[in-house]
Amino acid sequence: MKGVPLNEELYQYILNTFVEEDDILRSIVKETEKLKLPLIQVSPENGLFLQMLIKMIGAKRVLEIGTLTGYSAVWMARGLPKRGKLITLEVNKDHAKAAKHNFKKAKLSNKIKLILGDALKSLDKLSKKKFDFAFIDAEKVNYPSYLERVLGMMNKGGIIAADNTLRDGEVVSKNPDESVKGVLRFNEMMAKDPRLLSLLVPISDGLTVGLVK
Ligand code: SAH
Ligand code: DHB
Ligand code: MG
Repeated sequence: MKGVPLNEELYQYILNTFVEEDDILRSIVKETEKLKLPLIQVSPENGLFLQMLIKMIGAKRVLEIGTLTGYSAVWMARGLPKRGKLITLEVNKDHAKAAKHNFKKAKLSNKIKLILGDALKSLDKLSKKKFDFAFIDAEKVNYPSYLERVLGMMNKGGIIAADNTLRDGEVVSKNPDESVKGVLRFNEMMAKDPRLLSLLVPISDGLTVGLVK
């Protein structure tokens, strides 16, 4: 293997040097914990990286699949210009309620629109809309179906990113479960689609990033 394998000390060095989580982001995680909701938001460095990608391409319209309590949405929306918009899709009412509260707290309600319901259905309704950046982070079995839909909704020069694409290392397992199979199929699609230039970036649990050519 070329490169330096990350250990706790090196990881903390990167976090301490580059990643500043403010009070609002910290409180979102605390509230999520208090409400006994799953603590599966992206890592802080992953949030920063998503925000950077959005700024790098000057994205004005962002689509997120899987809101949870809004942690990643806040990171991303903070990378948007004044009139930028983020649409986030969530099926769970409790998650959606907490997320909306957090968007208010972060003073981002004007930029973020949450659509409650199954993401596949919401995507079909949104199919004529165009986006510069899409972040896929809902149930892993549906990653391929999300990608099929999202591909037709992207502007040229846009970016598609998806979380958990190393699946805790399970992508090289000999007997992958259904969710790992979904991620494997998704990574294949991202790698092979002639419309994309893609790479699995080994940040956190893996972030597959594809540039729409
Ligand atoms: N992006 C969030 C974490 C998302 S966790 C963050 O980093 O802060 C995954 C979310 O996807 C959960 O809130 C779950 O309820 C939601 N989800 C699962 N299946 C879904 C579906 N079919 N449609 C929409 N949301 C879904
Ligand atoms: C799970 C989902 C996620 O989006 C994540 O970041 C971690 C775990 C899960 O469903 O297990
Ligand atoms: Mg995730």
